Amino acid sequence: MRIKVFTLFPDMLRPMLSQSILGRAIAAGLLQVELIDIRDYSTEKHRNTDDYPFGGGAGMVMAAQPIVDAFAANLPESWSGRRVYLSPRGRTLNQRIVEALAKEDELALLCGHYEGVDQRALDAVIDEELSIGDYVLTGGELGALVVIDAVARLVPGVLGSEESSADESFTTGLLEYPQYTRPADFRGRRVPGVLLGGNHADITAWRREQSLALTLERRPELLDAAPLDDGDRATLARLRRAGAVEALLEGRGVAHERLPMKLADGWGKAWLNAFVPEANRKAAKKQCLPGRRHVGALWQAFTLGFIPEYSEGDEALTRWMARKPGDGLLYLPDDGLLYKVSGMDPDDLAGIGCAILADEVMTRTWMQTGRPQSGPFCCEAE
Ligand SMILES: C[S@@+](CC[C@H](N)C(=O)[O-])C[C@H]1O[C@@H](n2cnc3c(N)ncnc32)[C@H](O)[C@@H]1O
Repeated sequence: MRIKVFTLFPDMLRPMLSQSILGRAIAAGLLQVELIDIRDYSTEKHRNTDDYPFGGGAGMVMAAQPIVDAFAANLPESWSGRRVYLSPRGRTLNQRIVEALAKEDELALLCGHYEGVDQRALDAVIDEELSIGDYVLTGGELGALVVIDAVARLVPGVLGSEESSADESFTTGLLEYPQYTRPADFRGRRVPGVLLGGNHADITAWRREQSLALTLERRPELLDAAPLDDGDRATLARLRRAGAVEALLEGRGVAHERLPMKLADGWGKAWLNAFVPEANRKAAKKQCLPGRRHVGALWQAFTLGFIPEYSEGDEALTRWMARKPGDGLLYLPDDGLLYKVSGMDPDDLAGIGCAILADEVMTRTWMQTGRPQSGPFCCEAE
């Protein structure tokens, strides 16, 4: 990939282009970046490159002549790459545009300064204007560096391995999951247990869930265009329900942490095995597992104070359950959601369970099924 940058301040770019990944890529010849000083092409006596705007107004405007002549002198007739002007008026750069730019063999970038560039220069030599965000910089050099950096990462060989860019935020259409490195316990903050377990399927599922949750929380509009499968859509439906539950917990001042869906999926079974005698399990399953929400939610309130040793795949959770008084687990069987809740006494926890029953369940199940609303603990098993 060959990139030519047209600028009044080439020295602003040099330090960035000589360091780290960009520096190595240029040294290895994977990337060629040529800095062209527009001032060298000025025909003015004092090498001026700007002048007052016609029609008045603040500041100076970069004149057309040095820019057009700099392009003519440096881009051969055969030049096929895109010619881009960095500008706050341009299309906002995103990963899709970066991917398209990375497919080009050559790229020309024009950095503006002062109040901008005489429109006739843009009409003569520019194919497209690109902005790096909705704010105004003093010059286009930082924008050019952003484009170079983002494009360079996609040039084969620039990153250590091709996979390094495959999983990133935006490349997958989603934001990236949280990353951790050693130590596993940093001043009491532990790495999620699933990442230490070595089960690759579980790790992949956890990362996908985290990506979906972060994207839903921070950039929900990305989900419209992201490639999602049925499993992702089911996860998102659960996460949306989790949003309602979490708003309720926050409203009541309850500290909470949603546990991975894999753990929630195994929870009902683990609880039954720990607390329900073998002979009663068939009937209990019918009442308590997902799909039986009104009964399951009663059970959920009940389970808050009774937490089995549950170690499937999450060592940190087991450790947490050798717990302080006031910590509990909140399980919503129909939503497949499992939370750690902290700092409450068991009565309060049961109260929270009842509140969720009242707010989330009674209106949706008891009323719909025509049952009398006689309170959460009066519900009959079917
Ligand atoms: C002070 S700005 C000029 C802003 C211009 N008067 C306007 O209002 O659109 C000077 C130069 O910085 C660069 N620049 C400023 N903000 C930018 C952004 N968000 N993205 C890309 N380049 C930007 C452009 O090259 C621009 O010519």
